[in-house]
Amino acid sequence: MALPNQVNILLLGSGGRECAFAWKIAQSPRLAKLFIAPGNGGTDAYGTNVDLSPVDFPLIGQFVQSNNINLIVVGPEDPLVKGIRDYFLASPLLRHISIVGPSKAAAALEGSKDFAKKFMAKHNIPTAKYLTVDKKNLQEGCKFLDSLKPPYVLKADGLAAGKGVLIIESVDEAKKELNEMILDAKFGEASSSVVIEEFLSGIELSVFVATDGESYKILPSAKDYKRIGENDKGLNTGGMGAISPVPFADKVFMDKVIERIVEPTIKGIKEDGLDYKGFVFIGLFSCNGEPFVVEYNVRMGDPETEAVMMLLESDIIDLFEGIANSTLREKDIKISSKTASTIVLTAKGYPNDYPKGDVITLPQMKDDNDTFVFHSGTKIKGKQLLTNGGRVIAITALGSDIQNALDKAYKMAENIQFDGKYYRKDIGQDLLKLNK
Ligand code: AMP
Ligand code: GLY
Repeated sequence: MALPNQVNILLLGSGGRECAFAWKIAQSPRLAKLFIAPGNGGTDAYGTNVDLSPVDFPLIGQFVQSNNINLIVVGPEDPLVKGIRDYFLASPLLRHISIVGPSKAAAALEGSKDFAKKFMAKHNIPTAKYLTVDKKNLQEGCKFLDSLKPPYVLKADGLAAGKGVLIIESVDEAKKELNEMILDAKFGEASSSVVIEEFLSGIELSVFVATDGESYKILPSAKDYKRIGENDKGLNTGGMGAISPVPFADKVFMDKVIERIVEPTIKGIKEDGLDYKGFVFIGLFSCNGEPFVVEYNVRMGDPETEAVMMLLESDIIDLFEGIANSTLREKDIKISSKTASTIVLTAKGYPNDYPKGDVITLPQMKDDNDTFVFHSGTKIKGKQLLTNGGRVIAITALGSDIQNALDKAYKMAENIQFDGKYYRKDIGQDLLKLNK
């Protein structure tokens, strides 16, 4: 059903991604009311936070009906993989609500590594060689490991909170881990089946595609910085920073990505009858200028969204309408020619245990049109802003180039205070070196 001119929106999620979405939605002249469930200490500046779990579909359904919501925007993967779209479509009272987010079957592109690899193989989409192994073909798995060169990549098939991917130097160690993943349920049910992959060497980037299942629009590319430590050392995190767009994703490279990856992906979604109205986040490796898919996610990235939203100049409700109501072909999106950098400030100890409830002091310097403080793990208690997650704040700055965008973001990072504040000082440095 078409959206009315003035739209009531329910945005699901509570991270920096949702804060950036909320910020952008609030700028639209088409917004009537925005609710964020559950939101964070920053999102309620743009709408009303509602204490609802994004995976409690019956309660979300009730809320949607009693607040005349026209459009639901799903931020994180969990509600998608659990089938929020299917839940709404199955209810005569809810099926008219527009949803940005794919069906449960389509969300398996993120929820199951094996499903994603089979999809890529079927549609001739370039990716690393692989074999999926479970209890029944463990022996074959060990043989496949013997046929590969080190290092060895093992991936739990299911969602494992970003922890299910192991990269291992020795083949014996890889076999031991494979056994533990499958037989000892190292990552629970998620690793009852494991994808073994050939190791790709190259440089990683992400491409974001909005689709209504028929046509698509490409949003700016971004590079994420996943490890906690500088020079990509230490544990994996949700993402410590981002640069968008990525300079090496130039026209020549993007033409290859479109022809070999984006077009076959959208065509494959259609051919396989997947109900996909949402964002496709394509994790890529550039191996000597040739693109290979590492993973699909069925949502936008965090912190990449904080960078990408600041580059999007056109109206986001219009874009959501195109996605949800199959009119994307008619929509024009406008992208800034600037560069965005995002720096994530984390709590001490993240990604391991970290404290919550520390007071955050934001600087007197105001956000301007070029620098913006998005909240990730924050909450408001009384009049105080407190830390409430591992990733606390995501600062995004726009600049004429990477260095200029970084200078502005880092200046803001220095001026935000809370106990144990940590951030990587080397975001974008690899790209600056490449450019030299
Ligand atoms: P994934 O969850 O599949 O994105 O994997 C997590 C991370 O592991 C990726 O962002 C890459 O840095 C790394 N990785 C995954 N697969 C491969 C591969 N085949 N070769 C090299 N690195 C990989
Ligand atoms: N930043 C990576 C992700 O959102 O999965």
